[in-house]
Amino acid sequence: MSTGTGRRFPDGFLWGSATASYQIEGAAKEGGRGPSIWDTFSHTPGKTLNGDTGDVADDHYHRWQEDLGHIADLGLGAYRFSTAWPRVQPGGSGPVNREGLDFYSRLVDGLLERGVKPVLTLYHWDLPQDLEDAGGWANRDTAYRFAEYAEFMARELGDRVDTWTTLNEPWCSAYLGYASGAHAPGRADGAAALAAVHHLNLAHGLGVQAVRSVLPSAKASITLNLHVIRPVDPSSPDDLDAVRRVDALANRAFTGPLLSGAYPADLFDDTAHVTDWSFVRSGDEQIAHQPIDVLGVNYYSTALARRWDGASPRSEDDGHDDALGSPWVGADDVEFVRPEGPYTAMGWNIDPSGMTELLLRLRDEYPGQPMMITENGAAFADTVSPDGAVHDPLRIDYIARHLEAVGVAIDQGADVRGYFAWSLLDNFEWSYGYDRRFGLIRVDYDTLQRTWKDSAHWYQGVVAQNALPE
Ligand code: NOJ
Repeated sequence: MSTGTGRRFPDGFLWGSATASYQIEGAAKEGGRGPSIWDTFSHTPGKTLNGDTGDVADDHYHRWQEDLGHIADLGLGAYRFSTAWPRVQPGGSGPVNREGLDFYSRLVDGLLERGVKPVLTLYHWDLPQDLEDAGGWANRDTAYRFAEYAEFMARELGDRVDTWTTLNEPWCSAYLGYASGAHAPGRADGAAALAAVHHLNLAHGLGVQAVRSVLPSAKASITLNLHVIRPVDPSSPDDLDAVRRVDALANRAFTGPLLSGAYPADLFDDTAHVTDWSFVRSGDEQIAHQPIDVLGVNYYSTALARRWDGASPRSEDDGHDDALGSPWVGADDVEFVRPEGPYTAMGWNIDPSGMTELLLRLRDEYPGQPMMITENGAAFADTVSPDGAVHDPLRIDYIARHLEAVGVAIDQGADVRGYFAWSLLDNFEWSYGYDRRFGLIRVDYDTLQRTWKDSAHWYQGVVAQNALPE
């Protein structure tokens, strides 16, 4: 195991860890919180592993002070968390819930008292159910409702928040939510998924405008899970074209409008048999294209694609749980092949070179755009030793190798300002429920007790040294 390169990170590099509201808070019916699409979905039989729900999760809603203690003890400079829209505005529009706002206000103050920068995500997938009932992200109006909510939050929390992130991984919201159905709301409708892509991009732009209307110098960002997709046969024009197609859906459908102000033409052409994209109105791409202070990059693994020959059974090993169908809207002749291992407990391949490759691509395509790794980490089948410790050398190795890969990209000119380990705590891993553990800190779901894994102790050292160990 090679965990020690001794690599140092730039002065001022921001070290953090990340969570999300529905994955940790619990207290689903407390404090005036309204239902979200994840409450509905997780309570629908067959949608999550073991029927798990976020009703209790890590009970962070009641244990937030203890969790702030862990954040401080780890020595983190920043904490990335999300606010639950249905806690703040239970119906997704209309009245604001004071109790919900107060919870986040206390959390932000608690972070600042401990010298930790709040990096806030406004939307990490818990859409108020009432908005889904009105069409969800396939409905343009949701983008305007989001901007209203963003403005409330900016008024309430003001300059106490260090970074305002609009959306987390809109790829998942759109394609897993509306095309494959693996995530809430569990719809399988390709045209709706592409409309959702657009309305999420629009929501980002409107959300940044709303936050800046209250806080003109707010630091704004969005977190994307850009995919590193490689061709099975790099010398095959068919395979290269398959990669181009899924790259358009996964990456350029977002970076196009958000970072360049226009959708790529090939995306429209490739999906013309699914939708005419008439939901993109004149001026929308300019709205989506707001200057952002930092681009959030989530990275876990790579994918391998090729043209499907139509004869053999289509392989769909894209690393996602494709519940009802494929998230790859309109790319019916593309297939995914399982990349080489080793793999994490998610079945995702471990390939730190993809981290460097992604950051260098972004350096080239968006020169001058500061970036932050807003998520990286791994699920493994942790066990508790008789002495109560959790020895998780594989997680340490995973994080160390990916940090090294970030460092290599920084050496080559990628402007990466920070790194957030996913996750602070074991938590509700969406359709996999509590079965997949990503935490630096173990959560015992019977007692809700928190225990530092070896990786937490190790990460504490990295943060303190601003360097990987020798
Ligand atoms: C992406 C998501 O943002 C987060 O919610 C999830 O738990 C991790 N990656 C791991 O799958």
